[in-house]
Amino acid sequence: MQKRLLFPLLAAFAALFPGGSLRADDELTLYTQRHYGFDDTVHQRFSEKTGIKIKVVKAAADELIVRLQEEGANTPADLYMTADGGGLDRAKKAGLLQPLVSALVEEKVPAHLRDPDGHWVALTKRARVIIYAPDRVKAGELSTYEDLADPKWRGRLVVRSSSNAYNQSLLASLIEANGAEAAEAWAAGVRKNMARPPQGGDRDQIRAVAAGLADVAISNTYYLGLMETSNDKKDLEAAAAVKIFFPNQEGRGTHVNISGAGIVKASKKADLAKQFIEFILSDEIQSLYAQGTFEYPVSETAEWSENQKRWGTFATDQVPFSVYGERNAEAVRLFNKAGWE
Ligand SMILES: [Fe+2]
Repeated sequence: MQKRLLFPLLAAFAALFPGGSLRADDELTLYTQRHYGFDDTVHQRFSEKTGIKIKVVKAAADELIVRLQEEGANTPADLYMTADGGGLDRAKKAGLLQPLVSALVEEKVPAHLRDPDGHWVALTKRARVIIYAPDRVKAGELSTYEDLADPKWRGRLVVRSSSNAYNQSLLASLIEANGAEAAEAWAAGVRKNMARPPQGGDRDQIRAVAAGLADVAISNTYYLGLMETSNDKKDLEAAAAVKIFFPNQEGRGTHVNISGAGIVKASKKADLAKQFIEFILSDEIQSLYAQGTFEYPVSETAEWSENQKRWGTFATDQVPFSVYGERNAEAVRLFNKAGWE
């Protein structure tokens, strides 16, 4: 580019970002467990607004923790992000995150959705629910997660593998609520009730219920949202054939997990990382997520998507997310003892 063109361009660019110290090499590296294509859209918006590029490294939460430990002070990572509260807690306890001080975070995010020491903050919420076939199951027959271990569901239930973090955190919440013995009996009861050995992701369980292979499934709500808005006609039809039931409404509430992030302790770009977190927590982006991935906003002032409004409001289990981290190993052990693959 010729110099006489470059200067007016730079001036125009700088005018777009008043107060921002725009450097062409501004870049954030994100270590993330998230696997949703929609995140790219959000990263692009952030880059357009701030000039900061987002470089993404995707892997399982614990693989990323090991990587951060191995890389130590030389890690290129600025942010650590998970699709589960347990991973955030484990990263914090491994000493891999640094505190974030932000008035916006405190204003937008309810206290139970962020680490008391500021090491991580929830960016979206997800509810793990029962998906059922309304032609074979009446809503009145459904009640709690605990009830899914009842023999009345023998051969009628599908759920994904116990190696999945969402199931591990659900079992951690059941250990916390009912004790280890009851949680193990629950896992064994659910395993007996399975219509088939665990296979596939949450969407595959919804598809199985729609196809009549099972009557109930355990799934996160946002997967139903993705199917309700899919370009695939089969998924649209499957989504239309099932309904959501929010369990444990009479008691402690439905199991909720979070996707969240913390700033990596070794990051030298904590200010930019904070900017990124605050951007995700703006009502605009929170509502965009509600419509794009169908995860729930953590900000109470952000609008839900039409799908979420249709599914309805629900009471949520208020167990601290650190429990998912603390009880993770125990949950994995109980799943294995119960023979839940
Ligand atoms: Fe997911």
